[in-house]
Amino acid sequence: MGETAKIILGDKTYELPVITGSEGEKAIDITKLRAITGHITYDPGFGNTGACKSAITFMDGEKGILRYRGIPVEELAEKSTFVETSFLLINGHLPTRAELNRFSVLLNDHSLVHEDMQAFFTNFPRSAHPMGILSSMVNALRSFYPKLDGHSKDQDIVVQMTRLLSKVRTMAAISYKISMGHKVVYPRPDLSYCANFLNMMFDSPVRPYKMDDDMVKALNVFWILHADHEQNCSTSAVRLVGSARVNLYAAISAGISALWGPLHGGANQAVIQMLKEIHAAGGDMEPFLARARDRNDPFRLMGFGHRVYKTYDPRAKIMKAMVHKVLAKLDIHDPLLDIAQKLEEVALRDAYFIDHNLYPNVDFYAGILLRALGIPTDMFTVMFAIGRLPGWISQWKEAQDDPDWKLHRPRQVYVGKNENKYLYMDERLEL
Ligand code: SDX
Repeated sequence: MGETAKIILGDKTYELPVITGSEGEKAIDITKLRAITGHITYDPGFGNTGACKSAITFMDGEKGILRYRGIPVEELAEKSTFVETSFLLINGHLPTRAELNRFSVLLNDHSLVHEDMQAFFTNFPRSAHPMGILSSMVNALRSFYPKLDGHSKDQDIVVQMTRLLSKVRTMAAISYKISMGHKVVYPRPDLSYCANFLNMMFDSPVRPYKMDDDMVKALNVFWILHADHEQNCSTSAVRLVGSARVNLYAAISAGISALWGPLHGGANQAVIQMLKEIHAAGGDMEPFLARARDRNDPFRLMGFGHRVYKTYDPRAKIMKAMVHKVLAKLDIHDPLLDIAQKLEEVALRDAYFIDHNLYPNVDFYAGILLRALGIPTDMFTVMFAIGRLPGWISQWKEAQDDPDWKLHRPRQVYVGKNENKYLYMDERLEL
């Protein structure tokens, strides 16, 4: 046995193997722990538990490093596109020209949504949250696109993945247009993935959308920054649901539901809400900082803190720079940006935030960029979901192909009543 960890329980010493990752991180392999010691581990929130081995994304929370298949996210944001980064995450390498062309043709061919699905969109209440609509519609895809007869399992998975990547963008735009009572705009074969989305969202018969390459680049960068983030809450939901060998769409629908939470992907919408409240209070942010410092107050400063990053989220730095570039190009002055920058400046000097290693995360500036692009606030988390889709898909596929695959079924430490007996009604004491 190579490197090991020793556990002493009572008068017995047990040895467990230690696994070393390709970046040198260490893990104690407890797959045999209960069998040899009768003990389990306890780790609420799984902050110390590795659920899998993965070759997709590497994060170093202390150094603020994020790499997709080994390539730094800074390089991908500068040099790649969201479609190319999606191919990289799913297939493990940057595409050749031929592979990228084939992938783009597949994305185009699968960009339409089944016409019968439009009835679903029109029958949601106008007030329905776009994340609830998206989660339902992605799950419904299996009903409209059942397994392909005559296709091998691998062929079927490639079509399922590409279909989902392409349709999720169209579904988001349809949902928005119908919620506004506007005519649905169809995808066009002559537009790139991101340009198509902007056109489907904002083109109209009376005011054709004027494509701006800088806005298309900004959207590519936004989605590249969101594309994957190893075993976060929503990805873990996709892996857990996928471990039951359910179809891809159902597993992704679970991930969309998890991302909706304000502590996770819903934070980008919550950040804007918080900045608007500070703006409405004349810019006075001290009450918000005081609540954030108060351990008895469940309030969290939205867009700050991270389970893994204990330094500046590398994505937030790129997002902030993109915000400045887009606002300058559009010649927009967004007062919420002034407030966000001031809040960041004050928080990073504040002892509480310094002591708790609380820095801006990806969500802190994301909403300001989306506002500049014209995306409505209640669609901010949908934008996160579209960006995270290639990550969820790649993680789901890695799990399906994992030789160590097991149905996810954690244990517990039972702290309830010991055995007692059934009482008939007249035996029960009135409380
Ligand atoms: C995303 O996991 C991922 O990778 C997620 C993500 C991705 O790409 O998938 O990066 C996307 O979800 C980013 C995070 C977006 N959420 C928010 O911005 C919401 C605000 N942030 C917090 O809720 C919080 O920071 C979390 C949930 C993100 C992380 O919290 P942890 O790791 O569970 O830590 P914790 O809640 O146990 O907090 C540790 C301490 C506590 O204080 P003590 O009780 O130890 O004194 O830090 C404090 C917390 O009170 N704290 C905060 C805070 N975040 C943590 N205090 C005030 N404001 C905050 N934002």
